[in-house]
Amino acid sequence: MAVNSITITKPDDWHVHLRDGAMLQQVANYTARQFSRAIIMPNLTPPVTTVAQAKGYREQILAATRDYPDFQPLMTAYLTDSMDVEEIVRGHAEGVFTATKLYPAGATTNSAAGVTDVKKIYPVLEAMQRIGMPLLVHGEVVSDEIDVFDREAVFIEQIMQPLLQDLPELKVVFEHITTKDAVDFVVAAGNNLAATITVHHLQINRNDMLVGGIKPHLYCLPVAKRELHRQALRKSATSGSNKFFLGTDTAPHAIGDKESACGCAGIFSAPHALESYVQVFEEEHALDKFETFVSLNGPKFYGLPVNEKKVTLVKQQQDVPDLIGQGELTIKPYRSGERLGWRLVTE
Ligand code: NCD
Ligand code: ZN
Repeated sequence: MAVNSITITKPDDWHVHLRDGAMLQQVANYTARQFSRAIIMPNLTPPVTTVAQAKGYREQILAATRDYPDFQPLMTAYLTDSMDVEEIVRGHAEGVFTATKLYPAGATTNSAAGVTDVKKIYPVLEAMQRIGMPLLVHGEVVSDEIDVFDREAVFIEQIMQPLLQDLPELKVVFEHITTKDAVDFVVAAGNNLAATITVHHLQINRNDMLVGGIKPHLYCLPVAKRELHRQALRKSATSGSNKFFLGTDTAPHAIGDKESACGCAGIFSAPHALESYVQVFEEEHALDKFETFVSLNGPKFYGLPVNEKKVTLVKQQQDVPDLIGQGELTIKPYRSGERLGWRLVTE
């Protein structure tokens, strides 16, 4: 029998870029409407590296999401080569930093101040291992000689594997995985390694981005890979394994910064993220695994309580607007202009 609606524990988004200033005001409620909690990425300019900055940023987010008073932003610290161990430990103890984020220097948007050699931050990682604080990893090497489509697979071999060997108890989230190599690695690793999967990597491959004309709004990092990788991601997300969970990596950029001779990486998927994820689970005949992936696995890995609220998605058509926002900050959302088959019901 066809399913017409599905009611589940309200999900969390374990990987979100909310930006700051006017862009934050414009995008924050889309995430707060769909999710109870969100792991907030720290790649602002300047990046969020101190407890004081994270507190200030959290206040800005709470002010921007006043309409959703239950929404809880979970803050992260941006790791740099010179990161102070005490600052991280204190931020975690005070309930300000939920996790830290490792960007290899130069890997993606606003990552210039990132880590140049993981060995340099071993004292921080050792402290995190001791206190059970998760490390969130953008898993791509940045060397010029490595092809952009191979950067995740090479990262596993060169960085991830040695890191987990040296710090076998460290909780690590391999963020926004895009390859079968990453899926296989995560499955084979211990329970201290998990991965987030974006909805766009479940829905698009590199042909969607490049065939018939370049689609700058489908360009993100890590870049979408070939079809066999997308199939591996769909299989793992819908498998029921507790090692994979939702992280949209929603990353808004103004339309002018995307449709440019040097366009920014990032897909703005926040407005209809759940409707797109549920479509994938429906197509894979795995609606019974949906709640596990979007609402249960994340809190379990982070050691946080599962949300008490419920949400319902109904099988009802809705059109995604062509554009969202105003003036220079106008954004083209993910699946812009498309008709979706599901709708999230909100109170
Ligand atoms: C992100 C952004 O724009 O901040 N872009 C992206 O393509 N995902 C950065 C990131 O997470 O890599
Ligand atoms: Zn991201």
